[in-house]
Amino acid sequence: MTEVLLEEIRENGDIPVHIAVIMDGNGRWAKQRGKPRILGHREGMKSVREVIEASGDAGVKCLTLYAFSSENWNRPRAEVMALMKLLERYTESEKDELRSQGVRVRAIGRIDELETSARRAIRSIEEYTREGNRMDLFLAINYGGRQEIVDAVRALSEDVAGGKVVSGSIDEALFGGYLYTAGAPDPDLLIRTSGEMRISNFLLFQLAYTEIYVTDVFWPDFRREHLFRAILDYQKRDRRFGKVSSGK
Ligand code: FPP
Repeated sequence: MTEVLLEEIRENGDIPVHIAVIMDGNGRWAKQRGKPRILGHREGMKSVREVIEASGDAGVKCLTLYAFSSENWNRPRAEVMALMKLLERYTESEKDELRSQGVRVRAIGRIDELETSARRAIRSIEEYTREGNRMDLFLAINYGGRQEIVDAVRALSEDVAGGKVVSGSIDEALFGGYLYTAGAPDPDLLIRTSGEMRISNFLLFQLAYTEIYVTDVFWPDFRREHLFRAILDYQKRDRRFGKVSSGK
């Protein structure tokens, strides 16, 4: 069944080049089962694995996963620590698989603010997978969209002050080159699981013309089939970028 969906995606063509995902609902998934929230995150890792593989199979070139936001520090300390440990474990347990799939991992966010062990784990998987050329995987960790814009403005103003950039030459493309996602195309499709209709400080600059797909499915239940359904839905959209209809 799932593979029929993949066939349909391929026949339609117009595969989204970049998909961004807000992986929400781990806590509610666990609560529904009377289990601690961390179990939801752990189950969510299986979805991470499956969605990465399925994205590669569909021909997606870039996948961005919102793993930990700047605001997530406000959660109970035990949950924050468990999430960090999960990330560290993930980088270790998945690195060979990711490399063999041709996935290049890049972390986006204020990585330097993380504890040494998490920071090292992230830098190490980036290094380990740097030759990957089938798909880019951006892991948003300690990420905030406003913070990203502020960091870009800081770096850009230093370059202006240092005479490297003339302020009159600043345009959207040049500014985009100062964002954490420099070099990547803007997302074509944003998927948010568990039904919430919010952007939650994610990729604020890059999402300007992105198609949004919200599903009620909780992240730990979101698997290969759900990803393919989201892509099929995207393929039916009429993207106008502010212009008139292309007649699709
Ligand atoms: C949102 O669910 C999920 C998170 C804050 C963390 C996402 C992390 C993972 C799926 C595992 C680690 C990821 C990688 C890439 C290694 P929530 O806790 O906000 O759920 P709720 O809204 O139901 O409470």
